[in-house]
Amino acid sequence: MTFIVSSLLVALTYGLCYVHALQLINVTKLGPDPETVNRLNGESFQQDALATFNGFQYAVLWVPTANMSIRNAAIRRRSLPNGDWEGFQFPDYNQTDDDGHDIISLGISRGDGTIHLIWDQHDNSLNYRSSVAGVATNPAAVNFTAQLFSPLNNFLPGLEYLDKDVYFVNVTYPRFLRIPASNNTSADLLLEMRVGQAGQGDDWLYHYTPSKNWSLVGRYLEVSETFHNAYINGLDFSSEAVLHTSWTYRDYVNTTGQDVAVEAGPNGPENNHDMNFAFSADLFTWRNNWGQIIGELKAGLPVVPASAGITMFGIPKYGGILNQEAQTLDGENRMHVLNRENTTGYEQWYHYWRNTDIDWTRTPFPLSLAAHSINNITRTPTVIGKRGKLVSPPGHETLLAILPSNAPNSTGLSILASTPQNHFRDWKIIWEISSGCGWEPLFDRYRLNMEDGGDGVLSLYLIDGKDVVVMDLDLQLETIDV
Ligand SMILES: *[C@@H]1O[C@H](CO)[C@@H](O)[C@H](O)[C@H]1NC(C)=O
Ligand SMILES: *[C@@H]1O[C@H](CO)[C@@H](O)[C@H](O)[C@H]1NC(C)=O
Ligand SMILES: *[C@@H]1O[C@H](CO)[C@@H](O)[C@H](O)[C@H]1NC(C)=O
Ligand SMILES: *[C@@H]1O[C@H](CO)[C@@H](O)[C@H](O)[C@H]1NC(C)=O
Ligand SMILES: *[C@@H]1O[C@H](CO)[C@@H](O)[C@H](O)[C@H]1NC(C)=O
Ligand SMILES: *[C@@H]1O[C@H](CO)[C@@H](O)[C@H](O)[C@H]1NC(C)=O
Ligand SMILES: *[C@@H]1O[C@H](CO)[C@@H](O)[C@H](O)[C@H]1NC(C)=O
Ligand SMILES: *[C@@H]1O[C@H](CO)[C@@H](O)[C@H](O)[C@H]1NC(C)=O
Ligand SMILES: *[C@@H]1O[C@H](CO)[C@@H](O)[C@H](O)[C@H]1NC(C)=O
Ligand SMILES: *[C@@H]1O[C@H](CO)[C@@H](O)[C@H](O)[C@H]1NC(C)=O
Ligand SMILES: *[C@@H]1O[C@H](CO)[C@@H](O)[C@H](O)[C@H]1NC(C)=O
Ligand SMILES: *[C@@H]1O[C@H](CO)[C@@H](O)[C@H](O)[C@H]1NC(C)=O
Repeated sequence: MTFIVSSLLVALTYGLCYVHALQLINVTKLGPDPETVNRLNGESFQQDALATFNGFQYAVLWVPTANMSIRNAAIRRRSLPNGDWEGFQFPDYNQTDDDGHDIISLGISRGDGTIHLIWDQHDNSLNYRSSVAGVATNPAAVNFTAQLFSPLNNFLPGLEYLDKDVYFVNVTYPRFLRIPASNNTSADLLLEMRVGQAGQGDDWLYHYTPSKNWSLVGRYLEVSETFHNAYINGLDFSSEAVLHTSWTYRDYVNTTGQDVAVEAGPNGPENNHDMNFAFSADLFTWRNNWGQIIGELKAGLPVVPASAGITMFGIPKYGGILNQEAQTLDGENRMHVLNRENTTGYEQWYHYWRNTDIDWTRTPFPLSLAAHSINNITRTPTVIGKRGKLVSPPGHETLLAILPSNAPNSTGLSILASTPQNHFRDWKIIWEISSGCGWEPLFDRYRLNMEDGGDGVLSLYLIDGKDVVVMDLDLQLETIDV
């Protein structure tokens, strides 16, 4: 039983709908997870690894090959709710760097049914390919094979005129996001990525127009002369198609002459600081919390660290804040951010949120909850431990936090819930497993949305230690009359 609670009138008539429990429906395997030191599948910034469209769910992952130093990109699909996964590997690209940045991201254009892939990016030239039209809009009509996809390109089609050595080099963290159908823009898929190395990278936006090609929106978050690069927690469109983002800055340390190719070096998370926020109604004009204009991309003016009114919470360097944890917008367009701090002598997860009066609140996840958790979950965060997710299931009042245990060697996973009626302070644990989540949990943001081809199920993308799996959870609802 589900319905959309979008107005007080509806609420008064029908009551408020909460998620009070989760019930496991199924766990299915996508394929083996490569035995690398750093994780190539399931990184918090991977957007998306799992996405539903038009009654089908799609997943991407790296799989091992006979040669242990080579991985191939794989894509899978199934018809919902429980069709068998089918798919294939791309034989024409060998992934060889053992580097946790080098994930695969998947995007789908709802307008023409093209599937877009970018992979293996850490300060290198773009690796992009897309399918022919109709693959996702008419899934039953195609044989799902590699022949549906273009060769790899080191540019975005339609943007051949841009200098590849400026726009499509040193690329990291590609993220796709569907542009809401309610907007009348002709573009329906957004791409965000960092260009330039850690501490020196800018964040760029592009969009894709069905049956056309990619267009440049612009550079929206820029480093300053003193070098701080932004690490976004995510990107979310509101119900009015306003794009919201939050981020931390990382100060740059000059590492010339040092080997910093793979993971954090002197430019590590200890140099992260602050929780920043901005939004844009048209992707070009960016505004701060109070709606003041701080960026005009068409005039070449991005948001910079010195932009007024972007810092919602000042968090010092060495303050325990991590980069790229999580954010979500709820049904009332309240922004919620998940991150962590050690500003009280104890590393804790924090929830930062913006209410409908645009005021922000910061609350730690209560340590006392650990006593009620098989994973002691709220006592586990470490400075670089596995990152979690926030989920705001459309049509419900509940905010969910998906928290992976950061305790040494633990693969526990806990899902917590809180409600706006109690100002999101009433966190309780509604579901837990003590093992099975070996790296950062991801979820299918589109399957949850019944207005966008989904069926309301919470699908998680997990690394269970050996395999990449999809775990489906049914939201158990309770309606409270008011
Ligand atoms: C495995 O792949 C690596 C990287 O391409 C290559 O250097 C090595 O020679 C390969 N090993 C074998 C046995 O083919
Ligand atoms: C679980 O998934 C398998 C494989 O896709 C399917 O055959 C089975 O029916 C599913 N079980 C349930 C309870 O949905
Ligand atoms: C990938 O590696 C395999 C095994 O070494 C080799 O046969 C194949 O030609 C390589 N493919 C590419 C695209 O380099
Ligand atoms: C799919 O493959 C089958 C078997 O190879 C073939 O008979 C059929 O025509 C193909 N369909 C399309 C749409 O290519
Ligand atoms: C998109 O760009 C490619 C070249 O990269 C071109 O071949 C194709 O015709 C373009 N498509 C459209 C619809 O303009
Ligand atoms: C989109 O266009 C239609 C028809 O022109 C109009 O009725 C509707 O209000 C527009 N919606 C938005 C979100 O601009
Ligand atoms: C890309 O990185 C290389 C070093 O790896 C650097 O020399 C070059 O200036 C960078 N280019 C851009 C546009 O950031
Ligand atoms: C880093 O240090 C090297 C060597 O001292 C210098 O050439 C370079 O300009 C510095 N880079 C930055 C971004 O400060
Ligand atoms: C929404 O549509 C308006 C009007 O067509 C356009 O200016 C704006 O860029 C669109 N927003 C997004 C997020 O695409
Ligand atoms: C948090 O900070 C305190 C005091 O600075 C330090 O002793 C402790 O080790 C830190 N905790 C973590 C998880 O880094
Ligand atoms: C949780 O904490 C209690 C008390 O400190 C400890 O006995 C228990 O082993 C912990 N459990 C886990 C899963 O870490
Ligand atoms: C974690 O696993 C490693 C490797 O198996 C082991 O050496 C270490 O003692 C374990 N740590 C804890 C706290 O269990």
